[in-house]
Amino acid sequence: MSEKTNNYLWWQTGVIYQIYPRSYQDSNGDGIGDLPGITKRLDYLSDTLGVDAVWISPIYPSPMHDFGYDVADYTGIHPLFGTMADFDRLLEEMHRRGLKLILDLVPNHTSDEHPWFLESRSSREDPKRNWYIWRDPAPGGGEPNNWLSVFGGPAWTFDEKTGQYYLHQFVKQQPELNYRNPEVVAAMLDAMRFWLEKGVDGFRVDVIGLMLKDPEFRDEPLDPAWNGFYPFAKLNHIYTSNLPEVHDLIHQMRLLLDSYEDRMMVGETYLPNDMLMKYYGTPEKLECHLPFNFQLILAPWKAATVRQMVDDYEAALIPDAWPNWVLGNHDQHRLATRIGADQARVANMLLLTLRGTPTCYYGDELGLENVSIPPEKVQDPPAVNQPEIAHIVGRDPERTPMQWDASPNAGFASPDVSDLWLPLASNYEEVNVASQLDEPRSMLNFYRKLLAYRKATPALLWGDYRSLDLQPAEVRENCFVFERGTADQRLLVALNFSGQEQTLSLSELGKGRVALSTMLDRQGEEDLATLVLRANEGCIIEL
Ligand code: GLC
Repeated sequence: MSEKTNNYLWWQTGVIYQIYPRSYQDSNGDGIGDLPGITKRLDYLSDTLGVDAVWISPIYPSPMHDFGYDVADYTGIHPLFGTMADFDRLLEEMHRRGLKLILDLVPNHTSDEHPWFLESRSSREDPKRNWYIWRDPAPGGGEPNNWLSVFGGPAWTFDEKTGQYYLHQFVKQQPELNYRNPEVVAAMLDAMRFWLEKGVDGFRVDVIGLMLKDPEFRDEPLDPAWNGFYPFAKLNHIYTSNLPEVHDLIHQMRLLLDSYEDRMMVGETYLPNDMLMKYYGTPEKLECHLPFNFQLILAPWKAATVRQMVDDYEAALIPDAWPNWVLGNHDQHRLATRIGADQARVANMLLLTLRGTPTCYYGDELGLENVSIPPEKVQDPPAVNQPEIAHIVGRDPERTPMQWDASPNAGFASPDVSDLWLPLASNYEEVNVASQLDEPRSMLNFYRKLLAYRKATPALLWGDYRSLDLQPAEVRENCFVFERGTADQRLLVALNFSGQEQTLSLSELGKGRVALSTMLDRQGEEDLATLVLRANEGCIIEL
């Protein structure tokens, strides 16, 4: 395996941890998390857990129609989350601990309360009219074309006063900016510059591939594969996403980042490999440092399928592109709910041993599951707008308060706070940080050991990857085994995706030493000719 030295950057070797700020730590008694709350938990992040970078979902002023993804001021802080002084303190305290801060940038759309939109909608002659996407009604009346909103219904809303429709691919309170207007590009780069000057280490860029749309506003074709279920999937979104021109825009954002030292950009990209690779850009025209790779979220949880997917992604990576993997985020059902609690450790071992940057979602280190939300508490727009498919598209269940301890309100808010913005999981008295720290073999202690092992292990940080062919067929179906290695270190990661014991026969590898098992009860030498993995067990084995 190839010789490499440690000249890797923080976003290549580090682990990114996503915080949904409304749900991490309330410090002022309103039942909603805030920035001083996150500052209070930095020791947990840097020492207890040992992550390297934190991505915080939007904290800007917002009427919260999409919980902060409707931004009313790109360079401010929502009073719910605190003040700019609170932000500066958070950043300073993070940097003091060696943690990097990644902000969420939402360039595709603003809030309908953003001053730019208020001006734009004030009259057809307003100088900012062309900052957004306005269209006349179709010739016979009605929406200008057939484009749909991700959250249900048409992507167009009629403005009575000026007699035109504006575009929004999410809720109607999220009008889309017009990036064919250079003033808009300049304004967004200015917003980025504001945070870069403060020392923010990077941006996670929301729906990065949506920023440009077809200049002819053509109807989108029906998707013949549509299963009649999720309305947005009815159309093939060829005129509203991944247009070739979007890459020029992303390159401009990258140039700005590169004018500062050591900053990064990770794009939100749910795409197949061939399209995904384009978001890295080319050597002449760089784009994202990391376009998010969400395949582990979308794939059926089967060892053979996941192996194939990892191999395909590795093979598709273009030269110099750094891989990355994600298991969960604020838009997806909780990992333990998706694949089953029994497999949560195996999945996290996979995430943290594959080649590339892992992104973890807060609470996955405890094995949190989706929380069922009583109807009167459902708040997420896709669930509210589409009650018949709310159980599928609703995102409240994965956004519930962090479970810190067994006290009333789980340490998320002070015990006397009467109402949390979303309910706590009913299991918080058993499943929380404090109780899991006390239990030597808990999920959290497993996570901590795994993170510490990863940090100390060059083969995992930047070593090569090679998956192994397994025999017989049953083992091949149920286990995923791969090697990671540098010139002087070789490791085997052996994962049992099934609920039955599996015996691996890897006699060509001789003997190995178990460094870490997902069950934390096993170490020492093994003859790899008969390596037994218990049900739902994963092991890292030093060769
Ligand atoms: C992204 C965000 C999601 C948000 C949407 C609109 O997909 O992750 O939470 O609702 O964009 O901004």
